Amino acid sequence: MEILNLHELEKLAHARLPQMAWDYYASGADDERCVRRNCEAFERLALHYRVLVDVRTRDLTATVLGHRLAMPIAVAPTAFHRLAHPEGELASVAGAGDAGTLFILSTLSNTAVEDVVAAATGPVWFQLYVYRDRGATEALVRRVEAAGCRALVLTVDAPLLGRRERDVRNRFALPPHLGVQNLLPSGYSAVPAAAGDSALAAYVAELLDPGITWEAVDWLRSITKLPVLVKGIVRADDAVRAVDHGAAGIVVSNHGGRQLDASPATIEVLPRIADAVAGRAEVLLDGGVRRGADVVKAVACGARAVLVGRPILWGLAAGGRAGVAAALATLRRELDLAFALCGCPDVASVTRDLVDPDTVPRP
Ligand code: FNR
Ligand code: LAC
Repeated sequence: MEILNLHELEKLAHARLPQMAWDYYASGADDERCVRRNCEAFERLALHYRVLVDVRTRDLTATVLGHRLAMPIAVAPTAFHRLAHPEGELASVAGAGDAGTLFILSTLSNTAVEDVVAAATGPVWFQLYVYRDRGATEALVRRVEAAGCRALVLTVDAPLLGRRERDVRNRFALPPHLGVQNLLPSGYSAVPAAAGDSALAAYVAELLDPGITWEAVDWLRSITKLPVLVKGIVRADDAVRAVDHGAAGIVVSNHGGRQLDASPATIEVLPRIADAVAGRAEVLLDGGVRRGADVVKAVACGARAVLVGRPILWGLAAGGRAGVAAALATLRRELDLAFALCGCPDVASVTRDLVDPDTVPRP
């Protein structure tokens, strides 16, 4: 599947998807300012490219928590892939593998973790939501470990679901044949339609624990040997706290603008978070990555890699596994050219001075 850029893929997906699914994927909280802010903050940053560097060969590979990836781009956890395509998460994980990268499976997937890992050709991490029922949460962690996931990504920016007004207007609900497959054994699989609200917002309010604190990170670490990443951080002090509580990584994220609409753009806060973490954990970023140059900007600001959310869903809707692979291949092609034009033969040469010429350039 050949596409010009991700904007084109977005249009293809929009044309294919029923309104309710499109709106669920596209929406942000309230006025959707943060959705735009994530992208606009990338647009505002310029890359102070270097010249006369030998870029005949470019090595795009990146290492993330010990996994060698084809590029510093991986798949963010997003819920309900079978709203986009009948093969759902099975197609997505295969597309991620085709692109040589890592797939993060959402707790709220329409496919069970065992089946997703079985279909994977690359590493799979699991994004965890903590249910009020800690026993059910622990049972899920056990299954995730047994299935072969390589890390847990604890999402902490959603004690309640942000209010996505499109979903409220549409009375967002899952079709009856789809559910939260990972929670089937615990009895929390159904997302029942709620009167006058998004069914997902009601599900989250009823079942997820809005009372979790830093204790939850300690608890999680006490029940698993898998590395834990904390996703949804926009402050340096929270990032340091996550590291102090043993996080192997943090994901600078505002949930793609779906939670607090007034959140800062992630690329804006990344430099000071990366500086505060100072290499004690790996820093990833997501939100608004739509071009290869955005990846360069994020890596220059201190990210090991970026995650992409909506573009994967666009690819899935437009072309299943091939569409997901095409979304990632498009970003990769752009990244390769951006490396060449920035005078960067590899990720190690993507340093802060590319975005901030006042910092000391590399020797
Ligand atoms: C998400 N995101 C998300 N995050 C998470 O931790 N668990 C989840 O289940 C979901 N579900 C979800 C569904 C949809 C439709 C979207 C768009 C997003 C947030 C996701 O991991 C990521 O933070 C953002 O998608 C990144 O922003 P972009 O790339 O979509 O701009
Ligand atoms: C969302 C939740 C599921 O953003 O994370 O829709």
